Amino acid sequence: MKTSLPPPNKYYPLGEGKAYFIRPIQLDDKKRLIDLFNHLSPESRYLRFAHAIANLQNDFLENILHLDYKKEMALVAVIQNQHGDEEIIGISRYITLPKQPICEFSLSVSDSHTEHGVGTHLMLDLINHAKENGLKAMAGYVLANNSKMLHLVNELGFKVSTIDDDPDFKTANLPL
Ligand SMILES: CC(C)(COP(=O)(O)OP(=O)(O)OC[C@H]1O[C@@H](n2cnc3c(N)ncnc32)[C@H](O)[C@@H]1OP(=O)(O)O)[C@@H](O)C(=O)NCCC(=O)NCCS
Repeated sequence: MKTSLPPPNKYYPLGEGKAYFIRPIQLDDKKRLIDLFNHLSPESRYLRFAHAIANLQNDFLENILHLDYKKEMALVAVIQNQHGDEEIIGISRYITLPKQPICEFSLSVSDSHTEHGVGTHLMLDLINHAKENGLKAMAGYVLANNSKMLHLVNELGFKVSTIDDDPDFKTANLPL
């Protein structure tokens, strides 16, 4: 896969003169994903995975890295650190449900880079990829106490609903 930087109009501001861009995940991103995970607080890990998690399982990482682009997509937000190396500060991903034109999203942003629009931009690009791939709806489960994520998806036009028999989660649905 190409590693060249995207054109400058695809950079987004991150404050303090920094900028990030969004690209599809690459096979060599494994260490960067582990570093991102290590920059998530226990609370953020819980909000993302809905349970306490200390390490990323190798199978989980390999699944993200070896995408079937017809059925899945993972996008990463990237900055260049002071050594010129790429650092992943956020990831959005969808997987499709079997035999349905519907996908399920997930999103994480490094705790040190939240509140700059990274999550919103990762979701907007993910939505565009899903549309281009012919999917008809995007959906996700969000913990009912994850007010930030619920606000974010609401701003993006998702319909947020409660689940009758599971008060711990809400669903977010967006027709594409
Ligand atoms: C929830 C989460 C993804 C949000 O990511 P984020 O990058 O902070 O999201 P955004 O920056 O796009 O939006 C958050 C806030 O920043 C504001 N914002 C958006 N663009 C901005 C910009 N360019 N400059 C400053 N602030 C901005 C938004 O208005 C929003 O604020 P508001 O809620 O008061 O309106 C992140 O906190 C996270 O990873 N949490 C833990 C994991 C998780 O909960 N995942 C979801 C599982 S379903």
